[in-house]
Amino acid sequence: MRDEDRLPDRQRWDQRYTSLEPERRTTPTPFVSACLPRLPSCGYALDVAAGAGRNSVALAKHGLQVDAIDVSWHGLHRAAALAARQHTTINPIVLDLARGWLPSRRYDVIVNSLFLMRELIPAIKAALSEGGWLVFETFTITQMEITPHRFNSHDRLLRPGELRQLFPDLSIIDYWEGVEDDRATARLLARFFV
Ligand SMILES: C[S@@+](CC[C@H](N)C(=O)[O-])C[C@H]1O[C@@H](n2cnc3c(N)ncnc32)[C@H](O)[C@@H]1O
Repeated sequence: MRDEDRLPDRQRWDQRYTSLEPERRTTPTPFVSACLPRLPSCGYALDVAAGAGRNSVALAKHGLQVDAIDVSWHGLHRAAALAARQHTTINPIVLDLARGWLPSRRYDVIVNSLFLMRELIPAIKAALSEGGWLVFETFTITQMEITPHRFNSHDRLLRPGELRQLFPDLSIIDYWEGVEDDRATARLLARFFV
């Protein structure tokens, strides 16, 4: 186990964001980018574990009012700075999602990128407005074979086929699972209809 893996989430990610070069992580992930044209261009969006804000800022530039939640103050500080550089704004919220709490608002779009906290899934589902869109992508356990040093347990990695089953009440628009550019991920675009 690396020394940094022994730290609580907040300290570990604060350290990473402090040393992240300014030009890194400034554009949305390819999946979020591909989903954007299908997403509404007004209303409220939530970026779960937003980090340095690459997806939050893309959502804000698309026209949405974005709550960007992360445990790392340093990450969100960078996110707010990135938004300002791109002439938009986001609403950064420093919060440990392990508390299982999300803002009480309903969201038209929720993005969860490269983060998995299974305990939070019911809260994410409950926070979607009727007709709301969920964009969810994260690593699968196959990633442990590709970069074994990067993850020290299976806890935060999806099992094969798991993401397809995590949101049984949503209508699946797109689903993909596989390896691309040495990244093993599953990706879901889905909507909530009552
Ligand atoms: C791999 S990064 C992904 C960041 C962003 N979603 C993206 O795609 O660029 C994982 C993020 O999860 C955040 N995180 C980890 N544990 C957390 C927790 N308990 N509560 C809130 N955020 C957490 C980290 O601070 C980090 O920003």
